[in-house]
Amino acid sequence: MTFPKEVSIVEVGPRDGLQNEKQTLRVEQKVELIKLLSETGLNRIEAGSFVSPKWVPQMANSGEVIKALNSKANIRYSALTPNLKGLEAAIESGVKEVAVFGAASESFSQKNINCSISESLKRFEALFELANHNNIKVRGYVSCVMGCPYEGDILPKAVTQVSKELIDMGCYEVSLGDTIGVGTPKATSVMLDDVLKEIDVSKIAAHFHDTYGQALVNLYTALGYGVSTIDSAVAGLGGCPYAKGASGNVATEDVLYMLNGMDISTGVNMNKLLVASSYISDVLGRSPVSKSANALLGR
Ligand code: HMG
Ligand code: MG
Repeated sequence: MTFPKEVSIVEVGPRDGLQNEKQTLRVEQKVELIKLLSETGLNRIEAGSFVSPKWVPQMANSGEVIKALNSKANIRYSALTPNLKGLEAAIESGVKEVAVFGAASESFSQKNINCSISESLKRFEALFELANHNNIKVRGYVSCVMGCPYEGDILPKAVTQVSKELIDMGCYEVSLGDTIGVGTPKATSVMLDDVLKEIDVSKIAAHFHDTYGQALVNLYTALGYGVSTIDSAVAGLGGCPYAKGASGNVATEDVLYMLNGMDISTGVNMNKLLVASSYISDVLGRSPVSKSANALLGR
């Protein structure tokens, strides 16, 4: 197996993590977390989400959070936008990159964004016009790539089809979400064998939740296919409010420990990452959901 020499880590804790916490963090707390993450060497940070506050109240203050960040030239802050209304709010906040999110499962699409897969793609098309006009980069997510909480198994070709449509529409990259963390190395291979027939590996990111403890081994499998963009959340925060039982994203600390051990460079400093991990864990009143963080912090 040939592994990439470098991996770009996309930190999704402030969005994917905090959207699923019972308590909504205050603007200052989120800003402090993102500030600490910005000092680690991470240069892609998903800072919030412009979705309906009735659907995800934890993200309602995303505009204030993003406005309060001192945009550093070398850091790309981004936010989720499900529709034009979300994109307009994102533009108003000053964010330069957004993400649309679709699914490979019809039932999940309905539960998460209240429309079918094909309707969601139509919505995104309208969003692209405004994004292009404002020079905003658009990333795409596909959820349920290895299983759905409502439909069970998902065919790899359903993942490939939606991913390809997102790329053709103008997404610079598609992040493949194992939303409920059910994948295994074999399922990861079967899915990637199909997706990579249609899409160049440089446009693919892996976004694995760790519900069944499989995220790292699935990432290792994806690295073997040449995937070199990995989404993760500091302290293993996360989940998805519309995927019952989905636990956190794979922890950034665990991904970094593995990549460091494989001599794959990321530009991220572990000690600084542990500062951010301790901060958010203290705010939430619990230990990080990361074996590496707990071992290194001696908790
Ligand atoms: P809807 O109810 O069909 O929308 O929801 P609507 O257009 O009929 O509007 C209904 C109300 O929402 C209206 O307000 C709109 O103004 C408002 P009202 O008149 O009732 O007061 N509204 C909005 N408000 C703020 N921002 C907006 C917005 N749009 C409409 N952008 C909608 C459709 C998509 C809005 C809703 O279903 C929604 O917000 N869903 C988001 C769910 C979500 O955030 N899920 C978690 C993120 S995805 C995820 O975690 C997976 C991922 O991590 C990858 C993986 O792990 O697989 C990315
Ligand atoms: Mg997710």
